[in-house]
Amino acid sequence: MLDLVIKNGLVVTAEGEFRWDVGVRGGVVVEMGKEVDAPAGRTIDATNKLILPGCIDPHTHMGIPIKDTFSADDFRSGSRASACGGTTTIIDFTVQSAGQTIREALDERLRRAKGKSYVDFGVHVNVTNRPDANIALIPGLVDEGFRSFKLFSTYREAGMMVTWPAFRRVVGQVARSGGIALLHAEDNGIVERETARQISAGHKAAIYHARSRPAGAEAKAIETAGQIAGELGAKLYIVHVSSAAGLEAGLKARAQGVDIYLETCPHYLVLTEAAYERKNGHYAIATPPLRTQADCDALWQAVADGGIDAIGTDHCPFTTAQKNTWGGQFQFVPNGIAGVENRLPLLYTYGVAEGRISLSRMVELLAENPAGIFNLATKGQIEVGRDADLVIYDPQGEDIIRASDMHSATDWSVYEGMKVVGRVDMTILRGEVLVEEGEFVGVHPAGRCLAISNN
Ligand code: URP
Ligand code: ZN
Ligand code: ZN
Repeated sequence: MLDLVIKNGLVVTAEGEFRWDVGVRGGVVVEMGKEVDAPAGRTIDATNKLILPGCIDPHTHMGIPIKDTFSADDFRSGSRASACGGTTTIIDFTVQSAGQTIREALDERLRRAKGKSYVDFGVHVNVTNRPDANIALIPGLVDEGFRSFKLFSTYREAGMMVTWPAFRRVVGQVARSGGIALLHAEDNGIVERETARQISAGHKAAIYHARSRPAGAEAKAIETAGQIAGELGAKLYIVHVSSAAGLEAGLKARAQGVDIYLETCPHYLVLTEAAYERKNGHYAIATPPLRTQADCDALWQAVADGGIDAIGTDHCPFTTAQKNTWGGQFQFVPNGIAGVENRLPLLYTYGVAEGRISLSRMVELLAENPAGIFNLATKGQIEVGRDADLVIYDPQGEDIIRASDMHSATDWSVYEGMKVVGRVDMTILRGEVLVEEGEFVGVHPAGRCLAISNN
């Protein structure tokens, strides 16, 4: 007897598309094939719909401190929005405050997430304070299953930057321990110089956020980090690649043999810096900034041809009230935007429906690759023995993105008014239905911490 069987849908895997039924028992996929006949507690008819693996978002920030405030979603609201966007696993980041060790920061983040998240979650460990004093803690955290360590080559003013020599020492230890280093890549020297230049010219509007953090800053940091990772033989994952120049630097490092993975985000694919010229353009401020159409085109090309490995959201929403504390000066806007509920529909619409990528490639970018890169052995694929994390996507019909329909705790969307094709009809986490007919139906936040359960 099965708990659940999904019949008549098109199962999409990174290998292809298959007219298969999917049988679930005990939260796990136990049968797949042309006809699954075993009796089941519930039968879902997915005729004309796609059955996708539950998506994994490797880059979210629930309730993090930025510019004297906190991003608006906590794990409860952010994971609810994630489920509504077809995401069944998020990977968030620790926040290492002054005086805290990376271990203490991890424990604090886990306390915030446990019992609050509707979807499964992992945590990347930020190394932002006293990196050398924390290096000795890295092997123990890797042994516990926390294998990914994030560093910043900028945000000096926020006390988060590590210098390149410290980066080398931390990444060396991460590599020796069998982990992976993540980098927010912007050259801080360029950013500080360009920011000062805009400020002294009296430039205050949102567009100058983009001018103050040019693509060259991203490219230079990726180049430097790639060289170091190459010398150390380390695995390196660049978060939120936003520009053609940054992409080129990453691809060059890869061509030279560096074990480098490149992530971009939906906003760098479907929006340009024109968003800063809109009414309330400062709402759209995120770091790195939105760029030009040529940058979007280059990123789409890499999304299609394998240059980009994963698409995360960098979900870090702020309300309009929070954004409006900026006092009319770009450098004071809390940076970040919401994305967890829009990622899959945007990728389906502007990727698959517009003919840029196949369904299989979409699934690779949103589920299979993040699972592979971050060692989530039970996630990322629809396969017998893996968790029954499934999304039923109805590709028919069109919708318009409205912040008022979203489940995030913010009150606006950078994607407001954009068309999307299809919708997330059902989201299923380990056999439990979280979203049904597009509506959130989750009762208990029963998301599990992945690192611990994997060990
Ligand atoms: O603007 C952004 N992206 N805010 C979140 C922090 C980060 O740099 O990813
Ligand atoms: Zn970042
Ligand atoms: Zn981020």
